[in-house]
Amino acid sequence: MTMAETVAPPSSTAAAIALDDAYAAHNYAPLPVVAASARGAWITDVEGRRYLDCLAAYSAVNFGHHNEEIIATAHRQLDAVTLVSRAFHSDRLGPFCAALAQLCGKDMVLPMNSGAEAVESGIKVARKWGADVKSVPAGMANIIVADKNFHGRTISIVSFSSDESARGGFGPFTPGFRSVPFGDSDAVAAAIDEHTVAVLVEPIQGEAGIIVPPDDYLPRLRALCTENNVLLIADEIQSGLARTGQTFACDHWGVVPDIYLLGKALGGGVVPLSAVVADRSVLGVLNPGEHGSTFGGNPLAAAIGTTVVEILQRGEFQSRSAELGLHLHARLRALIGHGVLAVRGMGLWAGVDVDTRLGTGKQLSLALAKRGVLVKDTHGSTLRFAPPLVITAEEIDWAIEQFASALDEAGR
Ligand SMILES: Cc1ncc(COP(=O)(O)O)c(C=O)c1O
Repeated sequence: MTMAETVAPPSSTAAAIALDDAYAAHNYAPLPVVAASARGAWITDVEGRRYLDCLAAYSAVNFGHHNEEIIATAHRQLDAVTLVSRAFHSDRLGPFCAALAQLCGKDMVLPMNSGAEAVESGIKVARKWGADVKSVPAGMANIIVADKNFHGRTISIVSFSSDESARGGFGPFTPGFRSVPFGDSDAVAAAIDEHTVAVLVEPIQGEAGIIVPPDDYLPRLRALCTENNVLLIADEIQSGLARTGQTFACDHWGVVPDIYLLGKALGGGVVPLSAVVADRSVLGVLNPGEHGSTFGGNPLAAAIGTTVVEILQRGEFQSRSAELGLHLHARLRALIGHGVLAVRGMGLWAGVDVDTRLGTGKQLSLALAKRGVLVKDTHGSTLRFAPPLVITAEEIDWAIEQFASALDEAGR
Protein backbone atom coordinates (compact mmCIF):
# COMPACT_ATOMS: atom_id res chain seq x y z
CA MET A 1 0.00 0.00 0.00
CA THR A 2 1.17 3.55 -0.68
CA MET A 3 1.46 6.13 2.10
CA ALA A 4 -1.57 7.98 0.70
CA GLU A 5 -3.65 4.80 0.90
CA THR A 6 -2.67 4.06 4.50
CA VAL A 7 -3.02 7.49 6.13
CA ALA A 8 -6.62 8.20 5.11
CA PRO A 9 -9.07 6.82 7.72
CA PRO A 10 -10.53 3.59 6.26
CA SER A 11 -14.23 3.74 5.45
CA SER A 12 -15.07 0.07 5.96
CA THR A 13 -14.79 -2.18 9.01
CA ALA A 14 -12.86 -4.80 7.05
CA ALA A 15 -10.32 -2.30 5.67
CA ALA A 16 -9.71 -0.75 9.10
CA ILE A 17 -9.17 -4.12 10.75
CA ALA A 18 -6.88 -5.29 7.94
CA LEU A 19 -4.74 -2.17 8.38
CA ASP A 20 -4.57 -2.65 12.17
CA ASP A 21 -3.65 -6.30 11.71
CA ALA A 22 -0.91 -5.42 9.27
CA TYR A 23 0.73 -2.55 11.16
CA ALA A 24 -0.36 -2.47 14.83
CA ALA A 25 1.27 -4.85 17.32
CA HIS A 26 -1.08 -7.69 18.20
CA ASN A 27 -1.14 -7.06 21.95
CA TYR A 28 -4.95 -6.75 22.02
CA ALA A 29 -7.80 -8.82 20.58
CA PRO A 30 -10.46 -6.15 20.03
CA LEU A 31 -14.08 -6.73 19.05
CA PRO A 32 -14.63 -6.06 15.32
CA VAL A 33 -16.09 -2.58 15.87
CA VAL A 34 -14.30 0.40 14.31
CA ALA A 35 -15.15 3.66 16.06
CA ALA A 36 -15.29 6.80 13.96
CA SER A 37 -17.00 9.24 16.34
CA ALA A 38 -18.66 9.27 19.76
CA ARG A 39 -20.99 11.43 21.85
CA GLY A 40 -22.22 10.84 25.38
CA ALA A 41 -22.65 7.08 25.86
CA TRP A 42 -22.76 6.30 22.13
CA ILE A 43 -20.08 5.31 19.63
CA THR A 44 -20.67 5.45 15.85
CA ASP A 45 -18.61 3.15 13.65
CA VAL A 46 -17.07 3.78 10.23
CA GLU A 47 -20.18 2.43 8.54
CA GLY A 48 -22.59 4.60 10.52
CA ARG A 49 -23.77 1.92 12.99
CA ARG A 50 -24.37 3.14 16.54
CA TYR A 51 -23.36 1.27 19.69
CA LEU A 52 -24.14 1.92 23.35
CA ASP A 53 -20.73 2.03 25.01
CA CYS A 54 -20.91 -0.05 28.19
CA LEU A 55 -17.15 -0.05 28.78
CA ALA A 56 -16.24 3.67 28.75
CA ALA A 57 -12.60 2.89 27.90
CA TYR A 58 -12.19 1.05 31.21
CA SER A 59 -13.60 4.09 33.08
CA ALA A 60 -11.46 6.68 31.26
CA VAL A 61 -14.65 8.11 29.73
CA ASN A 62 -16.64 8.40 32.97
CA PHE A 63 -17.98 11.85 32.05
CA GLY A 64 -19.12 10.80 28.59
CA HIS A 65 -17.61 10.96 25.14
CA HIS A 66 -17.02 14.53 23.99
CA ASN A 67 -18.07 16.02 27.33
CA GLU A 68 -18.74 19.63 26.33
CA GLU A 69 -17.16 21.24 29.37
CA ILE A 70 -13.98 19.17 29.02
CA ILE A 71 -13.77 19.64 25.25
CA ALA A 72 -14.20 23.42 25.66
CA THR A 73 -11.29 23.48 28.12
CA ALA A 74 -9.19 21.40 25.72
CA HIS A 75 -9.92 23.79 22.82
CA ARG A 76 -9.02 26.84 24.92
CA GLN A 77 -5.79 25.27 26.11
CA LEU A 78 -4.81 24.02 22.62
CA ASP A 79 -4.84 27.65 21.54
CA ALA A 80 -2.76 28.80 24.51
CA VAL A 81 0.12 26.42 25.27
CA THR A 82 0.23 22.60 25.28
CA LEU A 83 3.70 21.55 26.43
CA VAL A 84 6.69 23.18 28.05
CA SER A 85 8.04 20.19 30.05
CA ARG A 86 8.78 20.64 33.74
CA ALA A 87 11.95 22.58 32.86
CA PHE A 88 9.69 25.66 33.15
CA HIS A 89 6.56 26.41 35.12
CA SER A 90 3.20 26.71 33.42
CA ASP A 91 0.18 28.64 34.64
CA ARG A 92 -1.93 25.46 34.57
CA LEU A 93 0.08 23.09 36.78
CA GLY A 94 -0.40 24.82 40.13
CA PRO A 95 -4.18 25.23 39.82
CA PHE A 96 -4.52 21.57 38.81
CA CYS A 97 -2.39 20.25 41.67
CA ALA A 98 -4.14 22.50 44.19
CA ALA A 99 -7.61 21.43 43.01
CA LEU A 100 -6.76 17.72 42.95
CA ALA A 101 -4.99 17.80 46.32
CA GLN A 102 -8.07 19.48 47.79
CA LEU A 103 -10.42 16.91 46.25
CA CYS A 104 -8.33 14.15 47.84
CA GLY A 105 -7.86 15.95 51.18
CA LYS A 106 -4.08 15.71 50.70
CA ASP A 107 -1.21 18.19 50.44
CA MET A 108 0.54 17.42 47.16
CA VAL A 109 0.23 15.93 43.69
CA LEU A 110 2.80 14.21 41.48
CA PRO A 111 1.37 14.35 37.94
CA MET A 112 2.23 11.60 35.46
CA ASN A 113 0.57 10.25 32.30
CA SER A 114 -0.57 6.63 32.21
CA GLY A 115 -2.01 4.64 35.08
CA ALA A 116 0.97 2.29 35.09
CA GLU A 117 3.27 5.30 35.51
CA ALA A 118 1.27 6.44 38.53
CA VAL A 119 1.63 2.97 40.05
CA GLU A 120 5.38 2.87 39.30
CA SER A 121 5.71 6.34 40.79
CA GLY A 122 3.74 5.32 43.88
CA ILE A 123 6.07 2.36 44.36
CA LYS A 124 9.13 4.60 44.03
CA VAL A 125 7.70 7.12 46.49
CA ALA A 126 6.91 4.35 49.00
CA ARG A 127 10.43 2.91 48.72
CA LYS A 128 12.03 6.36 49.07
CA TRP A 129 9.79 7.08 52.07
CA GLY A 130 10.90 3.74 53.52
CA ALA A 131 14.55 4.70 53.09
CA ASP A 132 14.31 8.32 54.23
CA VAL A 133 11.59 8.24 56.87
CA LYS A 134 11.26 4.64 58.09
CA SER A 135 15.03 3.97 57.80
CA VAL A 136 14.56 0.65 56.01
CA PRO A 137 18.05 -0.57 55.02
CA ALA A 138 18.94 -0.16 51.32
CA GLY A 139 17.47 -2.88 49.13
CA MET A 140 15.37 -4.41 51.91
CA ALA A 141 11.98 -2.70 51.40
CA ASN A 142 8.96 -4.87 50.67
CA ILE A 143 5.47 -3.98 49.46
CA ILE A 144 2.43 -6.17 50.08
CA VAL A 145 0.02 -6.58 47.16
CA ALA A 146 -3.11 -8.64 46.51
CA ASP A 147 -3.44 -11.79 44.41
CA LYS A 148 -5.24 -11.25 41.08
CA ASN A 149 -4.29 -7.56 41.16
CA PHE A 150 -4.14 -5.48 38.01
CA HIS A 151 -2.01 -2.34 38.22
CA GLY A 152 -0.66 -2.06 34.65
CA ARG A 153 1.93 -3.54 32.36
CA THR A 154 5.44 -2.35 33.20
CA ILE A 155 8.13 -4.83 34.25
CA SER A 156 7.91 -3.94 37.95
CA ILE A 157 4.13 -4.11 37.94
CA VAL A 158 3.90 -7.46 36.13
CA SER A 159 6.56 -8.71 38.57
CA PHE A 160 3.79 -9.01 41.17
CA SER A 161 0.95 -10.01 38.85
CA SER A 162 -0.67 -13.43 39.36
CA ASP A 163 -1.67 -13.54 35.69
CA GLU A 164 0.78 -15.78 33.86
CA SER A 165 -0.05 -14.26 30.46
CA ALA A 166 1.10 -10.88 31.84
CA ARG A 167 4.43 -12.36 33.00
CA GLY A 168 5.38 -15.20 30.64
CA GLY A 169 8.56 -14.35 28.75
CA PHE A 170 9.03 -10.95 30.40
CA GLY A 171 11.44 -11.88 33.21
CA PRO A 172 13.69 -11.21 35.02
CA PHE A 173 11.35 -9.50 37.44
CA THR A 174 11.63 -6.79 40.08
CA PRO A 175 11.94 -8.18 43.62
CA GLY A 176 10.42 -6.71 46.78
CA PHE A 177 6.74 -7.67 46.51
CA ARG A 178 4.65 -10.11 48.55
CA SER A 179 1.28 -11.16 47.22
CA VAL A 180 -1.48 -12.37 49.56
CA PRO A 181 -5.15 -13.21 48.87
CA PHE A 182 -7.38 -10.20 48.16
CA GLY A 183 -9.92 -9.55 50.90
CA ASP A 184 -7.86 -11.35 53.55
CA SER A 185 -6.62 -8.80 56.09
CA ASP A 186 -5.17 -11.54 58.32
CA ALA A 187 -2.88 -12.52 55.45
CA VAL A 188 -1.73 -8.90 55.17
CA ALA A 189 -1.11 -8.77 58.94
CA ALA A 190 0.97 -11.95 58.70
CA ALA A 191 2.99 -10.62 55.73
CA ILE A 192 3.96 -7.27 57.32
CA ASP A 193 7.46 -7.10 58.81
CA GLU A 194 9.80 -4.30 59.87
CA HIS A 195 10.86 -3.71 56.25
CA THR A 196 7.34 -3.35 54.85
CA VAL A 197 6.90 0.12 53.38
CA ALA A 198 3.48 -0.17 51.78
CA VAL A 199 0.33 -2.17 51.21
CA LEU A 200 -0.84 -1.58 47.63
CA VAL A 201 -4.41 -2.57 46.69
CA GLU A 202 -7.26 -1.80 44.34
CA PRO A 203 -10.14 -1.08 46.78
CA ILE A 204 -12.35 -3.02 44.35
CA GLN A 205 -10.46 -5.27 41.95
CA GLY A 206 -11.42 -4.25 38.40
CA GLU A 207 -9.72 -6.48 35.88
CA ALA A 208 -10.17 -9.48 38.20
CA GLY A 209 -13.93 -9.17 37.58
CA ILE A 210 -15.17 -6.29 39.80
CA ILE A 211 -14.43 -8.04 43.09
CA VAL A 212 -15.78 -6.16 46.13
CA PRO A 213 -13.89 -7.06 49.34
CA PRO A 214 -15.53 -7.92 52.68
CA ASP A 215 -16.65 -4.80 54.57
CA ASP A 216 -13.94 -5.04 57.23
CA TYR A 217 -11.08 -5.43 54.73
CA LEU A 218 -10.11 -1.84 53.92
CA PRO A 219 -10.76 -0.49 57.47
CA ARG A 220 -8.57 -3.32 58.81
CA LEU A 221 -5.81 -2.56 56.26
CA ARG A 222 -6.01 1.11 57.30
CA ALA A 223 -5.56 0.15 60.97
CA LEU A 224 -2.75 -2.34 60.23
CA CYS A 225 -0.84 0.23 58.17
CA THR A 226 -1.19 2.89 60.85
CA GLU A 227 -0.12 0.50 63.65
CA ASN A 228 2.93 -0.72 61.70
CA ASN A 229 4.06 2.58 60.15
CA VAL A 230 3.30 1.31 56.65
CA LEU A 231 1.79 3.37 53.79
CA LEU A 232 -1.64 2.33 52.51
CA ILE A 233 -1.71 2.90 48.75
CA ALA A 234 -5.12 2.79 47.04
CA ASP A 235 -5.00 2.24 43.30
CA GLU A 236 -8.19 4.13 42.38
CA ILE A 237 -7.20 4.38 38.72
CA GLN A 238 -10.27 2.41 37.61
CA SER A 239 -12.46 2.50 40.74
CA GLY A 240 -12.07 6.21 41.50
CA LEU A 241 -13.51 9.47 40.19
CA ALA A 242 -17.23 8.68 40.53
CA ARG A 243 -17.28 5.19 39.00
CA THR A 244 -18.68 3.46 42.11
CA GLY A 245 -21.07 6.20 43.24
CA GLN A 246 -18.54 7.96 45.47
CA THR A 247 -15.55 10.09 44.50
CA PHE A 248 -13.27 7.23 45.59
CA ALA A 249 -14.19 3.59 46.16
CA CYS A 250 -12.41 3.84 49.55
CA ASP A 251 -15.14 6.34 50.59
CA HIS A 252 -17.65 3.47 50.80
CA TRP A 253 -15.77 2.21 53.85
CA GLY A 254 -14.75 5.61 55.24
CA VAL A 255 -11.10 4.77 54.58
CA VAL A 256 -8.49 7.38 53.68
CA PRO A 257 -5.31 5.88 52.22
CA ASP A 258 -1.90 7.52 52.56
CA ILE A 259 -1.50 7.58 48.79
CA TYR A 260 -4.15 7.76 46.07
CA LEU A 261 -3.15 6.57 42.61
CA LEU A 262 -5.40 8.14 39.98
CA GLY A 263 -5.58 7.98 36.20
CA LYS A 264 -8.01 7.15 33.42
CA ALA A 265 -10.99 9.54 33.98
CA LEU A 266 -8.62 12.20 35.34
CA GLY A 267 -7.76 12.99 31.71
CA GLY A 268 -11.44 13.47 30.84
CA GLY A 269 -11.27 10.86 28.08
CA VAL A 270 -9.12 13.33 26.13
CA VAL A 271 -5.51 13.01 27.29
CA PRO A 272 -3.52 10.53 29.38
CA LEU A 273 -3.25 12.06 32.85
CA SER A 274 -2.45 10.24 36.06
CA ALA A 275 -1.33 11.27 39.51
CA VAL A 276 0.08 10.22 42.84
CA VAL A 277 -1.63 12.21 45.60
CA ALA A 278 -0.39 12.25 49.19
CA ASP A 279 0.60 14.44 52.10
CA ARG A 280 3.86 16.39 52.22
CA SER A 281 5.24 13.90 54.77
CA VAL A 282 5.11 11.27 51.98
CA LEU A 283 5.48 13.03 48.59
CA GLY A 284 7.96 15.46 50.11
CA VAL A 285 10.61 12.70 49.95
CA LEU A 286 11.10 13.43 46.23
CA ASN A 287 13.83 15.96 45.42
CA PRO A 288 14.68 17.56 42.05
CA GLY A 289 16.14 15.04 39.63
CA GLU A 290 14.89 11.95 41.49
CA HIS A 291 11.76 11.37 39.40
CA GLY A 292 9.99 12.93 36.45
CA SER A 293 8.34 12.75 33.07
CA THR A 294 8.54 15.05 30.03
CA PHE A 295 4.78 15.08 29.56
CA GLY A 296 3.73 14.74 33.22
CA GLY A 297 1.59 17.72 34.24
CA ASN A 298 1.72 19.35 30.80
CA PRO A 299 -0.50 22.43 30.45
CA LEU A 300 -3.07 20.72 28.21
CA ALA A 301 -3.49 17.78 30.58
CA ALA A 302 -3.41 20.03 33.66
CA ALA A 303 -6.14 22.29 32.24
CA ILE A 304 -8.32 19.28 31.43
CA GLY A 305 -7.59 17.70 34.82
CA THR A 306 -8.66 20.91 36.55
CA THR A 307 -12.00 20.83 34.74
CA VAL A 308 -12.41 17.16 35.69
CA VAL A 309 -11.84 18.04 39.36
CA GLU A 310 -14.36 20.89 39.09
CA ILE A 311 -16.91 18.44 37.66
CA LEU A 312 -16.22 15.98 40.49
CA GLN A 313 -16.54 18.71 43.12
CA ARG A 314 -20.14 19.24 42.00
CA GLY A 315 -20.92 15.60 42.82
CA GLU A 316 -23.47 15.08 40.05
CA PHE A 317 -21.69 12.10 38.50
CA GLN A 318 -21.17 10.41 41.87
CA SER A 319 -24.96 10.69 42.47
CA ARG A 320 -25.83 9.49 38.97
CA SER A 321 -23.57 6.47 39.37
CA ALA A 322 -25.03 5.62 42.78
CA GLU A 323 -28.67 5.94 41.67
CA LEU A 324 -28.39 4.40 38.21
CA GLY A 325 -26.05 1.76 39.61
CA LEU A 326 -28.89 0.45 41.81
CA HIS A 327 -31.04 0.23 38.69
CA LEU A 328 -28.31 -1.51 36.65
CA HIS A 329 -27.60 -4.05 39.39
CA ALA A 330 -31.31 -4.79 39.97
CA ARG A 331 -31.83 -5.38 36.24
CA LEU A 332 -28.74 -7.59 35.99
CA ARG A 333 -29.63 -9.58 39.12
CA ALA A 334 -33.03 -10.33 37.58
CA LEU A 335 -31.13 -12.35 34.94
CA ILE A 336 -29.63 -14.71 37.54
CA GLY A 337 -30.93 -18.14 36.60
CA HIS A 338 -31.43 -16.99 32.99
CA GLY A 339 -27.83 -17.35 31.85
CA VAL A 340 -26.30 -15.16 34.57
CA LEU A 341 -24.66 -16.85 37.55
CA ALA A 342 -23.58 -13.87 39.67
CA VAL A 343 -23.47 -10.07 39.64
CA ARG A 344 -20.93 -8.01 41.60
CA GLY A 345 -19.94 -4.38 41.85
CA MET A 346 -20.96 -0.94 43.00
CA GLY A 347 -22.45 2.03 41.20
CA LEU A 348 -22.36 1.86 37.41
CA TRP A 349 -19.73 -0.87 37.56
CA ALA A 350 -20.81 -4.49 37.33
CA GLY A 351 -19.02 -7.79 36.83
CA VAL A 352 -21.42 -10.39 35.50
CA ASP A 353 -20.51 -14.09 35.51
CA VAL A 354 -22.25 -15.83 32.65
CA ASP A 355 -23.08 -19.52 32.40
CA THR A 356 -20.31 -20.99 30.24
CA ARG A 357 -22.79 -23.47 28.75
CA LEU A 358 -24.15 -20.48 26.80
CA GLY A 359 -20.72 -19.52 25.47
CA THR A 360 -17.58 -17.73 26.54
CA GLY A 361 -17.54 -14.12 27.67
CA LYS A 362 -15.95 -13.21 24.35
CA GLN A 363 -18.69 -14.95 22.36
CA LEU A 364 -21.38 -13.13 24.35
CA SER A 365 -19.54 -9.81 23.90
CA LEU A 366 -19.60 -10.44 20.15
CA ALA A 367 -23.31 -11.28 20.24
CA LEU A 368 -23.97 -8.09 22.21
CA ALA A 369 -21.90 -5.98 19.80
CA LYS A 370 -24.07 -7.31 16.95
CA ARG A 371 -27.04 -6.00 18.94
CA GLY A 372 -25.42 -2.60 19.43
CA VAL A 373 -24.06 -2.93 22.98
CA LEU A 374 -20.33 -2.83 23.70
CA VAL A 375 -19.05 -4.67 26.79
CA LYS A 376 -15.74 -6.35 27.60
CA ASP A 377 -15.14 -9.86 28.81
CA THR A 378 -12.56 -10.73 31.43
CA HIS A 379 -11.31 -14.06 32.80
CA GLY A 380 -13.19 -16.19 30.30
CA SER A 381 -16.76 -15.93 31.56
CA THR A 382 -17.17 -12.52 33.19
CA LEU A 383 -18.66 -9.53 31.37
CA ARG A 384 -17.96 -6.02 32.56
CA PHE A 385 -20.61 -3.32 32.40
CA ALA A 386 -19.06 0.10 33.03
CA PRO A 387 -20.88 2.64 30.87
CA PRO A 388 -20.08 6.37 30.77
CA LEU A 389 -21.85 7.89 33.77
CA VAL A 390 -23.99 10.03 31.42
CA ILE A 391 -25.99 6.93 30.47
CA THR A 392 -29.75 7.16 31.17
CA ALA A 393 -32.06 4.64 32.89
CA GLU A 394 -33.78 4.03 29.53
CA GLU A 395 -30.46 3.27 27.86
CA ILE A 396 -29.59 0.86 30.67
CA ASP A 397 -32.95 -0.85 30.16
CA TRP A 398 -32.30 -1.16 26.45
CA ALA A 399 -28.80 -2.62 27.04
CA ILE A 400 -30.21 -5.17 29.51
CA GLU A 401 -32.94 -6.15 27.03
CA GLN A 402 -30.24 -6.79 24.42
CA PHE A 403 -28.25 -8.80 26.96
CA ALA A 404 -31.29 -10.87 27.94
CA SER A 405 -32.11 -11.68 24.34
CA ALA A 406 -28.45 -12.48 23.53
CA LEU A 407 -28.46 -14.94 26.47
CA ASP A 408 -31.78 -16.32 25.34
CA GLU A 409 -30.52 -16.85 21.81
CA ALA A 410 -27.30 -18.48 23.05
CA GLY A 411 -29.38 -20.90 25.16
CA ARG A 412 -31.51 -22.05 22.24
C1 LIG B 1 -6.53 -0.50 38.80
C2 LIG B 1 -5.66 -0.16 37.62
N1 LIG B 1 -4.42 0.32 37.83
C3 LIG B 1 -3.62 0.65 36.81
C4 LIG B 1 -4.02 0.48 35.51
C5 LIG B 1 -3.08 0.83 34.38
O1 LIG B 1 -3.49 1.97 33.73
P1 LIG B 1 -2.91 2.31 32.25
O2 LIG B 1 -3.51 1.31 31.32
O3 LIG B 1 -3.37 3.72 31.98
O4 LIG B 1 -1.42 2.20 32.34
C6 LIG B 1 -5.30 -0.01 35.24
C7 LIG B 1 -5.76 -0.22 33.84
O5 LIG B 1 -6.71 -0.88 33.55
C8 LIG B 1 -6.15 -0.35 36.32
O6 LIG B 1 -7.36 -0.84 36.12
